[in-house]
Amino acid sequence: MAEYQKALVTGGAGFIGSYLCKGLIKNGLEVIVIDNLSMGKKENLPDGVDFILGDIIDESMVREVVMNMGIDIIFHQAAKVSVRASIDHFYDDAENNIMGTLNLLRACKGSPVKRFIYASSMAVYADSNEPKPINEDFITNPISPYGASKLSSEIYSMMITDRLGIDCIVLRYFNTYGKGQRFTPYVGVITIFVNRIKEGEPLIIYGNGNQCRDFVHVSDIVHANILAMEKKVRRGVFNIGTGRPTSINRLAQIIRDKMDPNAKVIHLDDHHGELKNSIADISKAKEVLGYWPEKALEDAIHEVI
Ligand SMILES: NC(=O)c1ccc[n+]([C@@H]2O[C@H](COP(=O)([O-])OP(=O)(O)OC[C@H]3O[C@@H](n4cnc5c(N)ncnc54)[C@H](O)[C@@H]3O)[C@@H](O)[C@H]2O)c1
Repeated sequence: MAEYQKALVTGGAGFIGSYLCKGLIKNGLEVIVIDNLSMGKKENLPDGVDFILGDIIDESMVREVVMNMGIDIIFHQAAKVSVRASIDHFYDDAENNIMGTLNLLRACKGSPVKRFIYASSMAVYADSNEPKPINEDFITNPISPYGASKLSSEIYSMMITDRLGIDCIVLRYFNTYGKGQRFTPYVGVITIFVNRIKEGEPLIIYGNGNQCRDFVHVSDIVHANILAMEKKVRRGVFNIGTGRPTSINRLAQIIRDKMDPNAKVIHLDDHHGELKNSIADISKAKEVLGYWPEKALEDAIHEVI
């Protein structure tokens, strides 16, 4: 019999969470989702998911679900995910992301939960001047309130689960893309570029465009979560990306080539709070979890378009 039978996916109606639910169901797990639908959509959920409309800040609901529904593994995806919004709304970001995580951890005490997998972010790292892959020992000194809330949640997750005797894996996702990724003007440079071209607007690049990102396909993120569930590794923090840098200029070029080679590009001043370079060194995830990214940006970006 598989080690885990019933998973709770917080934020399961969101972009990554909904793919994760599909992956878990495919792997034979029963899946319960808590989502407040602030960003997610119910129609994103695959058939067979037990959906609870609720907020992870709601103490009694979270405790009831975690204690009494037979959940043995938690995949914590729910968060406010906008770096830019977190700058003005740092209180809301922290309240949702940190206190939501603490509420979930508090509910784990005395529950059947055996493993806690936390969706963290490359935003926990300090900025890197060089477009080179960084490993998990790179300095964690976030430059945005969002990064601070994700780092703080990581630390609490490791600390509290340790005291409770629950396994804990932290996955630091890099820029994730894929079909169904929703468009907002604040999250996800790929969807922002695609939408601007569709609207006949010029692409806006902040700074000189040489800053590099690591774009990882959502199916690889799901695979990393499944490995984090299956491997007999009790604790650890892992970068989940591709290890390949793509500059914002190059990204603009790829999207223009596919959609409209004549689309204009304009450069504006740097955006405060956003990392210059963020590329994952994935050696640890490869070695310990057996993770390997399968999709390359150039081949899969058409899904978003
Ligand atoms: N997309 C990326 O590039 C990326 C990169 C690094 C880390 N992450 C992390 O991955 C996770 C999922 O991100 P996503 O891109 O799928 O974002 P998303 O906004 O699509 O999904 C987040 C989901 O959480 C829900 N949610 C938010 N606050 C909630 C609350 N208090 N209670 C219940 N539900 C709540 C939203 O309704 C949404 O469905 C987040 O934790 C994010 O920080 C994402």
